[in-house]
Amino acid sequence: MAKIIAIANQKGGVGKTTTTINLGAYLASGNKKVLIVDLDPQGNTSSGLGIRPDKLSGDLYDVLMDGVSAQAVARPTAVDGLHVLPASAVLAAAEVELVAVPQREFKLRDALADLDYDYVLIDCPPSLGILTVNGLVAAHELIIPVQAEFYAMEGLGQLVQTVQRIRKALNPKLGLMGVLVTMHNGRTTLSMQVHEEVKRHFPDKVFETVIPRNVRLAEAPSFGKSIMHYDGWSKGARSYKALAKEVEKRAGAKKK
Ligand SMILES: Nc1ncnc2c1ncn2[C@@H]1O[C@H](COP(=O)(O)OP(=O)(O)O)[C@@H](O)[C@H]1O
Ligand SMILES: [Mg+2]
Repeated sequence: MAKIIAIANQKGGVGKTTTTINLGAYLASGNKKVLIVDLDPQGNTSSGLGIRPDKLSGDLYDVLMDGVSAQAVARPTAVDGLHVLPASAVLAAAEVELVAVPQREFKLRDALADLDYDYVLIDCPPSLGILTVNGLVAAHELIIPVQAEFYAMEGLGQLVQTVQRIRKALNPKLGLMGVLVTMHNGRTTLSMQVHEEVKRHFPDKVFETVIPRNVRLAEAPSFGKSIMHYDGWSKGARSYKALAKEVEKRAGAKKK
């Protein structure tokens, strides 16, 4: 059965999409079958992997709202073993339309049941609306990226409360796999202070791997490439490779 991991934080610009794409690429390069689900109507994950949603082949909206199978819509990427379930702007309509649908919180979970992947990574949108709730209900594990900047902790309390509510009512199995510090600048005391503060708030949950601020990571999506293919020797690439190892370890530890 696939290990389903949601990458969520309702703050925008904290590195959710960058983490999903590059973690997905490195997990796939370790001979795993990986599906990325682009749950953000902005579609940055899809375009960052060189995928343009087009009407003919469908996207996540069709899966959530029209019962099209995930397998029919999932598409291969330039990375061997890495597939993506793309999103486009119409997915924004699902945020409104789902409200009237029975069992609306379970649409994604049901769509992802019985898929033949080792990992499914869900890139959540920057809100705590019904799409993100679908992501958290479908997931076994959660990764929270936190940007090593001022206000990093803002909103984390609300996210943790949402997770607790979802555990109680909708998905008792949802675990917090880890909190990931992103865009870290080792030369600033602020970055180091934020790292320490995150560790105080989430003892034993913070990934040892810290993602540095690295311009190569910001450039790669405009070429439709993961960092592995864009600049595999960059600091950013090495950090996501290390993260993939840690994720494999944490995912394996849970299984036993
Ligand atoms: N480690 C990093 N170093 C430099 N730029 C980064 C890094 N991580 C993300 N970015 C850039 O920051 C912006 C926000 O990142 P993104 O992954 O899209 O965040 P989110 O999905 O949480 O909104 C993007 O332009 C991205 O390229
Ligand atoms: Mg994003």
